[in-house]
Amino acid sequence: MKKTHLLFTLVLGFSLTLFIQSCKEDEEPEPAAEEFIADDASFANWASWTLVDTKNGVDPSLGGAHAGNDSTAVRKIYVKDGQKAVGGTYPIGTLVVKHMKSDSMEMITAMAKRGNGFDAANNDWEYFVIQNDGKIVVDGGTTMRGSTGLMGGMCVGCHAKASEDYIFTK
Ligand code: HEC
Repeated sequence: MKKTHLLFTLVLGFSLTLFIQSCKEDEEPEPAAEEFIADDASFANWASWTLVDTKNGVDPSLGGAHAGNDSTAVRKIYVKDGQKAVGGTYPIGTLVVKHMKSDSMEMITAMAKRGNGFDAANNDWEYFVIQNDGKIVVDGGTTMRGSTGLMGGMCVGCHAKASEDYIFTK
């Protein structure tokens, strides 16, 4: 074999080895199913999120929910990072807060897109009641389950009627 040929073969062999190695490094382990589990810190700065809607006063379609029967109520809806639905579905990790305040009450409800088959029949949303500092007061995922709880009736039953992925506000 000529010297140049030998050199060529060596260089080619070496590059191939590098190439194969770099391919191997790109191979990542199977990703685990994506799941977002909200905690108190997740909701901490909800008031600084994107304000997507404000509604006032009585709303007969709400009945007693969300202070819909309170003429002094102001309802504000915030979405973290202004997240929007993609192809009719909100991404896992989406956080939405609804703040209601009237002359006689204040309440903050929230939803988190948890994913991973957490509540597959209802698009994997988890429902919460939180306080002003973001601390979770009622977590539909752990307490108040069952047919009349947050996940069974109170929240899910009505939000199932929303036209897009359990979220009314666009
Ligand atoms: C009777 C129906 C009804 C019930 C019950 C209900 N909601 Fe809602 N919710 C709505 C409607 C309608 C909106 C849209 C805003 C509006 O019209 O005031 C909304 C808005 C929201 C939003 C903002 C995102 C969106 O869908 O626009 C959150 C978060 C929310 N609700 C959480 C909850 C939680 C948590 C519960 C249970 C404690 C609950 N809701 C119970 C009807 C309901």
